[in-house]
Amino acid sequence: EKVILAYSGGLDTTAIIPWLKETYNFDVVCVCIDVGQESELEGLDERAKYSGAEKLYILDVVDEFCDEYILPGVKANATYEYEYLLGTSFARPLIAKKLVEIARKEGATTICHGATGKGNDQVRFEINIKALAPDLNVIATWRQPEWTMQSREDEIAFCKKHGIDLPFDVTTSYSRDRNIWHISHEGLELEDPSLEPNWDHLLVLGTYPEKAPDEAEYVTVNFEKGVPTAVNGKQMKMSDVVRELNRLGGKHGVGIVDIVENRVVGMKSRGVYETPGGTILLAAHKQLEELILDRDTLAFKKTVSDKYADLVYEGKWFCPLREALQAFIESTQDRITGEVKFKLYKGNIIKAGTTSPYTLYSESLASFTTGDLYDHHDAEGFIHLFGLSMKVRAMLDQKREEK
Ligand code: ARG
Ligand code: SIN
Repeated sequence: EKVILAYSGGLDTTAIIPWLKETYNFDVVCVCIDVGQESELEGLDERAKYSGAEKLYILDVVDEFCDEYILPGVKANATYEYEYLLGTSFARPLIAKKLVEIARKEGATTICHGATGKGNDQVRFEINIKALAPDLNVIATWRQPEWTMQSREDEIAFCKKHGIDLPFDVTTSYSRDRNIWHISHEGLELEDPSLEPNWDHLLVLGTYPEKAPDEAEYVTVNFEKGVPTAVNGKQMKMSDVVRELNRLGGKHGVGIVDIVENRVVGMKSRGVYETPGGTILLAAHKQLEELILDRDTLAFKKTVSDKYADLVYEGKWFCPLREALQAFIESTQDRITGEVKFKLYKGNIIKAGTTSPYTLYSESLASFTTGDLYDHHDAEGFIHLFGLSMKVRAMLDQKREEK
C-alpha cells in the first residue's frame, strides 16, 4: 500500500520516511511542492531516495500559487489580526490540492503530513484534504501514538538506527516556513514576548531598518483591474512582480512584522514575518482603492476583507463563503487600474503620487472655491437633517433638567 508524504527535505519529514515504512509497512511516495522556498530544495531527490522513499515528486507551482492564491488575496487586502499577510496560510490549500492530485495518480488512499499537533497547519492541511477528497485517510505523524520521537536528537538517532546518516545539525533553530510571499519565524527567543528578536540571526529576506541604505529609493507599481502588471515601468507576470518587490523591500527593511497572534487551536503564539514585496503590493493596491472606490463600497469591502482573512487563516479556502466573498471582491476590481509611486526608506513606505483614469477624486470639487457641482448652501439643509436626531435628544434632556 502506498502513502503520499508531504515532504520538505528537512529532518522531521526525512525521519518520517523510515518511520512510515517500519510502522505501517507503507511504500512511501514523497511529494515536495515548490511554492518558492528556494535554497531548501537542494539535494532533495537523493535525500528522499536514500532515506527509503520509493519515489519523489517535485512540483513547481510558484506561478499557480501567485496567480490563484496570492493574487486573490491581494485583491482582498487580506491581513489577519491587523498585520499578518498570511504567507503560510495561502500555501496550505494549494499544497493539499497537489497532494490529493498525486494520491489519485498513484492510487494511494492515505496522505501523511509532519505538522505538529499544536499548530494551524495540521488544521489547514486536513480540512483542505477533506474538502477535496473526503475519502482519503490522513496520518498526522505528530498525533499518532506510534510516533515516539520528541526531539531532533531522537529523530537523528532513529535515522541512524535505520542506516540513514544525514548531515543535519542538532543545534536548535527557528521554526520557519518560506515561500515566494513570505518567511515566518517562530520558536527560540520569540517564545517570550518580553524579548526583542535577535534580528541579525533572524532575518532572511532582507535587512532591518537601521541597516537599510541611507538613500531612499522610488518604486512604481502598475495595476490593471486589480492585477499588478508592472514594476518601475517594466511589464512582468505576478510571480516576477513579487520577486522584484521582495528584492526592493528587503533592501530597505520594509515588511517586517512581529506579532502575537491567535492560532485557531486556542493559544496565542508569537511570530516574526518578513513579507517585503507583499507589504509594498498591498499598500499600493489599497492606495488605488482609496482613490477609486466609492465610500460605501470601500467601507463594506473592509469588513469583507477581515472575514476573508479569518477564513484564509483558518484554512477554509475551499469553502462556499470564501468563494462568495471572492466574487464580491472581484466585482470591485473592475476599475482598479493605475500607477502608484512610493519612496522606500528605512522600513517606511512613503506615498509619492498616484494616478488612475478612474479616480473619483475631483480637485475642483475638493478645493475651497464654489463651483457648479457643489453649492455651499446645499450643506445647510443637509446638516439640519443629518443632526436632527441628536438635536431632538438634546432638547429632551434640556427639558428634563428644567423640571
Ligand atoms: N503562524 C503562522 C501561520 O499560522 C506561520 C506558521 C508557520 N508554519 C510552520 N510550519 N513553520 O500561518
Ligand atoms: C506547526 O505546528 O506545524 C507550525 C505552527 C503552526 O502550524 O501554526
